[in-house]
Amino acid sequence: MTITTERAYGARRVYETIPLDGEAVALRLSDRVIELGPKEAAFYDRVAEWLPSSRPLAALALDAGVGPAGLERRLGQLAEAGLLYRKDSLPAVVSGIELHRDYFAKLLPSWLDEAFSHPFWERMTSGGGSLRLFAGWLIELYHYTRNANRHMPLSCAHTRDKPLKALRAKHYAEEWNHYHYFMKSLKALGYSEPAVSSSVPLPMTLALSNFMRQAAREDILAYSICSAVLEGTTIERATYNPYYQRCAELYSVPNEAIQPIYAHLDLDVKYQHSDLFLDILKEVDVVPAARAGRILDYGHQLAEHIWLWTDNIERYYDREDNPMPRRPFDPRLE
Ligand SMILES: [Fe+2]
Repeated sequence: MTITTERAYGARRVYETIPLDGEAVALRLSDRVIELGPKEAAFYDRVAEWLPSSRPLAALALDAGVGPAGLERRLGQLAEAGLLYRKDSLPAVVSGIELHRDYFAKLLPSWLDEAFSHPFWERMTSGGGSLRLFAGWLIELYHYTRNANRHMPLSCAHTRDKPLKALRAKHYAEEWNHYHYFMKSLKALGYSEPAVSSSVPLPMTLALSNFMRQAAREDILAYSICSAVLEGTTIERATYNPYYQRCAELYSVPNEAIQPIYAHLDLDVKYQHSDLFLDILKEVDVVPAARAGRILDYGHQLAEHIWLWTDNIERYYDREDNPMPRRPFDPRLE
């Protein structure tokens, strides 16, 4: 494929654009940061705008004020820097194991960084949070975990391959009642069981569950990557201990409210749920590139959902006058 066949390049995902002095920028990708001077940054913006459009290559050349040779050279420079990739350099198919090893495992750390880049985490662990926010987060975790009963069996139903169906069913059997751990914590914090179980999840909690349902319907591997991103947060104690430990100290969370959370995390580690995605992909011989791209996009979208979920939790529970737990609509109270 040459440049004259129009869109020979694709753009790598930019996670963050940091303005530098005098119109220069630093672009953060999953694996590197690339600094562009003002001219290169302006050219890159034009290319990024042009790629998903249906405008001809000549229009880009005209916008950029260069001839065909100059355009090819400058696109090549962006590709060399790592901002663009040549579409013909991608394999037409990957095996399940390659998808895990060469793409998912490399991208997961940047997805988790993005998911947990919300200021809520820094605020909570540096003492600017509150017991109310801590409990609010637990209420929404309770709802999300209980809602697993809405997407996990759905994922089994939509799986056509028997080995994958069996793996998904096993995961469901191990997970279906884990919301009880969060109920235990919330009871230790003084919330009654009926008040929590009859409460209404926040919109973003429901959005996250429904996103999982959508993934389950579209492609079992898309669903499984989302599940793997969530499990990625619980691989070892070192990654989740500091948050709960710090909150316990800062906001006087009683030990009885922390213990069920650790018991749950330990159980998920014991079940080795973080290995499930690889176990599933070992059963898949061939994934065409287009499908692989869609699967990876689901994984990234899940990370974005976690960020938005955290944002919704902080905004809602930060307001002292918002009911907690969140009540169902009752016209008699309005
Ligand atoms: Fe669990």
